[in-house]
Amino acid sequence: MTKLWNKGFEPDKMIEEFTVGADRQLDLQLARYDVEGSMAHIRMLESIGLLTAEELEVLLAALADIAASIERGEFVIEEGVEDVHSQVETLLTRRLGDIGKKIHSGRSRNDQVLVDLKLFMRDRMRMLAERVDMLFRRLQSLSEQYADVLMPGYTHLQVAMPSSFGLWFGAYAEALVDDVEMVAAAYRIANQNPLGSAAGYGSSFPLNRTMTTRLLGFKTLNYNVVAAQMSRGKTERAAAYAIASVASTLGRFAMDVCIFMCQNFGFVSFPDSLTTGSSIMPHKKNPDVFEIMRGKCNRLQAVPNEISLLTANLPLGYNRDLQLLKDIIFPATNDICECLDMCDYMLQHIRIRTDIIEDEKYDYLFTVEDVNRLALSGVPFREAYREIGMRVQRGEYTPTREVHHTHEGSIGNLCNDRIAEKMHRAMELFGE
Ligand code: ARG
Repeated sequence: MTKLWNKGFEPDKMIEEFTVGADRQLDLQLARYDVEGSMAHIRMLESIGLLTAEELEVLLAALADIAASIERGEFVIEEGVEDVHSQVETLLTRRLGDIGKKIHSGRSRNDQVLVDLKLFMRDRMRMLAERVDMLFRRLQSLSEQYADVLMPGYTHLQVAMPSSFGLWFGAYAEALVDDVEMVAAAYRIANQNPLGSAAGYGSSFPLNRTMTTRLLGFKTLNYNVVAAQMSRGKTERAAAYAIASVASTLGRFAMDVCIFMCQNFGFVSFPDSLTTGSSIMPHKKNPDVFEIMRGKCNRLQAVPNEISLLTANLPLGYNRDLQLLKDIIFPATNDICECLDMCDYMLQHIRIRTDIIEDEKYDYLFTVEDVNRLALSGVPFREAYREIGMRVQRGEYTPTREVHHTHEGSIGNLCNDRIAEKMHRAMELFGE
């Protein structure tokens, strides 16, 4: 099939396959945004006299049909068509002839793909934040439910001081608030209109970029046309940092669960149906879900690096390398959401051991409590420390097993409501 840019020669088949790469599949995810962008663009073209009102109506109707076919899952990028932008224009031209050929005035596929990506990334970042918020709520409710169940706290992976399931679940909830701030930053960076930058240097048509900004619901414009083109890669990079940030929290939680499921700990368990077996060891109930989650989250933390390397030192303006960003960032946005969903699903079924602390191997968790108790009764801290230390050393230490923590954020005063307020404020950034 001939190209949009056909100038009387057919390109080499091998060259075409190599340069198109995965676009025919990946661009399907951009299709609805491409149509949305085109609708805004032609409304604007009509407003500046480059299309008649009748032409606009005909084009909008045809684009609405394409949008419906995308919605139904019937839209395909045909063999020999390079990308979604070419496919939409091909469909319009096939149906409307010359009118279809008018739609591309004042734009380039460079700003077309940019606007598609901004709209896509804006949606994905909002979706990601909603998923994070869902897991946040789950963790907070578990934190409240098990606020009084103690567990060992570790430093150096050695038994250290009392902790609780309230603290553990609540800690990951609060860490997710910072991650949402990162997602919100990526959302705001995506929420700017690049349309009208054309190939990267603007157009001699009197485009009304403010109008397309309003039609597409962008908060503002990438004003400078060169900066707009530069935002390709920067938008993805910001999203990648946000995804990596969520992944670092989630991956760490997955690691905790793997350890806590281990028989040597035995702090948490899941129903058999949520564990996996071994082909040789009949007793096995493995935490594969959390291992896959840990692995995926580790990989996702490499995504910002991949993007940095792909875009490092590219000359200013459009370069075809940028197409490969889609191969990196599209699967990443899916993977992180899948991990969040899975974590939430698993946590609906988590079982907590409530008598962990009775085990005598955790006796020493309480030494600091006992030192502090002595100190509060008037013994200077260093002497109290020595006194309890000597009891431990002589094998005479018996813990009182009482925990009195009252300050903000401690076992006895989790402040989950104030953490929820922080999350609420972070989520509000997506309404702007
Ligand atoms: N598939 C291309 C991309 O993602 C679309 C833009 C093509 N532009 C060009 N000048 N070849 O970058």
